[in-house]
Amino acid sequence: MNLFRKKSINAMLQQAKTGTPLNRTLGAWDLTLLGLGAIIGTGIFVLTGTGAVTAGPGIMISFLISGLACALTALCYAEFATITPVSGSVYTFTYATLGELVAWIIGWDLILEYLLAVSLVSAGWSGYLQSLLHGFGISLPTALTAAHGAVPGVETWFNLPAFIIVMIITFFVSRGVKESARVNNIMVIIKTAVVILFIVVGVGYVKPENWHNFLPFGFEGVFSAAAITFTAFLGFDAVVSAAEETKNPAKDLPRGILFSLGICILLYIAVSAIMTGIVPFAEFKGVAHPVSLALQYAGQNWVAGFIDLGAILGMLTVMLVMLYGQTRIIFAMSRDGLLPGVFSKVHATYQTPYQATWIIGVIAALLGGSVSLDRLAEMINIGTLTAFTLISLGVIVLRKTQPQLPRVFRTPWVPYIPLLSIAICIFLMTNLSAGTWYVFLIWLVIGLFIYFIYSRNKSLLNELSD
Ligand code: ALA
Repeated sequence: MNLFRKKSINAMLQQAKTGTPLNRTLGAWDLTLLGLGAIIGTGIFVLTGTGAVTAGPGIMISFLISGLACALTALCYAEFATITPVSGSVYTFTYATLGELVAWIIGWDLILEYLLAVSLVSAGWSGYLQSLLHGFGISLPTALTAAHGAVPGVETWFNLPAFIIVMIITFFVSRGVKESARVNNIMVIIKTAVVILFIVVGVGYVKPENWHNFLPFGFEGVFSAAAITFTAFLGFDAVVSAAEETKNPAKDLPRGILFSLGICILLYIAVSAIMTGIVPFAEFKGVAHPVSLALQYAGQNWVAGFIDLGAILGMLTVMLVMLYGQTRIIFAMSRDGLLPGVFSKVHATYQTPYQATWIIGVIAALLGGSVSLDRLAEMINIGTLTAFTLISLGVIVLRKTQPQLPRVFRTPWVPYIPLLSIAICIFLMTNLSAGTWYVFLIWLVIGLFIYFIYSRNKSLLNELSD
């Protein structure tokens, strides 16, 4: 039994044609909005403060490093996406290049990114909602405001708003991509507008002397902040998982990925520059709403209120796109026989993996309600960086093993770009804590157990080789 048996790319395209098809409705602009919907969220609205405390104004360099890592990986993604326009994201691509076992590990890792991102953002969203409600004099019972143990010294039990919001998002995603994409587009416009509003209003209050101590913790601080805030760039890859619902995947996918990522890199650097230019970085310690705090600091309370509202809306779209991405990856894994068939059943009316969406949504909601934001963030980063490393490796392997495949988009300077991407991802992983590595290894062992007990025997590749 070959652990590295592969699925042929032609067979994947054939399967995409013969199964119950998903609706092809999305263009490059929809994909860019899908990308922005996934990317701009908790990272910029919540984790910028943490990053500034860790790196000082040097957080701008941290964003450049993590943005660069994502951009390099995105170039690799784009090449794969135009070769295999079938759903499943990096999982699918790995199946064709590095084989079934690695593909399984990748799919398993991506659960950490997508599913936990839904939970993570729900926890951040809950914090902003409570802050807004607080402004109107409304407070929830303390026990229902955060996960158990999430706030030291406070007796919290379950994050009820986080749970409820994931259930609402699940409803939208389960009803179909067209409707979900439309909701997403409106939200993206709103949140991009508040980020630009912040930049335009905030720039006038910048005091350059706040930047004088630019690297208070040296490059060590910069690298730690890059590892912490890495999650701020995650989501561009969600675009790839919409491949089967894209009108012209060959052209639209690479454009959607690179446009959305490029816009975010510029916005994040501008926002972090202004934040640390208005407020001395140390004052962000423990602040749950650092972006609006900067404007309050400048006396712009009204604009700060709009930022709060935009952040709440912005985080909604992140959950929407991440949940969407997760259902499509699990859809692909199930269609390959590696997961039970319930995950690839398409609803007759909505043409979505309806049951899968609800199963995943409930799990994400429960985790969002019961696990702390910090713990979720750490796990997301380690899972995603592993996946990014493997996809970059996949580009090099595929160029060597299947050079004849038509590539509408070609990653430039192979193997240097993929190698650089691998190096940066591994470097960022080394900046994560030992505890995170420990939990990640346990997660991998569980995944391998399931693979050898169930997936390997049920894989469709068994039938093909009979
Ligand atoms: N990039 C997403 C966010 O920052 C995960 O919320």
